[in-house]
Amino acid sequence: MLSEKMLKALNEQLNREIYSAYLYFAMAAYFDDLNLEGFASWMKAQAEEEWGHALRFYNYIYDRNGRVELSEIPQPPKEWKSPSDAFRASYEHEQFISKCINELAALAEEEKDYSTRAFLEWFINEQVEEEASVKKVLDKLRLVKDSPQGIFMLDKELSVRVPKLPTLLMQGE
Ligand code: FEO
Repeated sequence: MLSEKMLKALNEQLNREIYSAYLYFAMAAYFDDLNLEGFASWMKAQAEEEWGHALRFYNYIYDRNGRVELSEIPQPPKEWKSPSDAFRASYEHEQFISKCINELAALAEEEKDYSTRAFLEWFINEQVEEEASVKKVLDKLRLVKDSPQGIFMLDKELSVRVPKLPTLLMQGE
């Protein structure tokens, strides 16, 4: 049985994961608006992954006899100054999420809730990957200084990452 405090913290994280999906979806829209389809595809795949993270929390809460509580999701920004500015914001967001996951793990340890601690292990490892994959793109963008040629090349490179949901759905057709 989850403690009330733990349940509240898990629900908060579930809602943060949904916000993450929302944020990456907003970034996809920003890139689509610039006709940078590769960047947009990368962001759509990222948004989709975040839904997967939210679902992990959702399922875990019910596995432990808890109740999922959805809260209002804040509106994400609409514009960024440049592609590197969007990736900088995304990197900062992932660092924030890592901090939240670590705090959850610390709470689980404090409460001797070893099931939740074990559940969070996947997220602790995932956050290392999440930060690294965003940082890799950010570093490249900084290297090319957001130049049109550099962005064009990166757009091609990023287009290989595609969402797994049916493509038609993601294309809205
Ligand atoms: Fe679910 Fe990107 O953190």
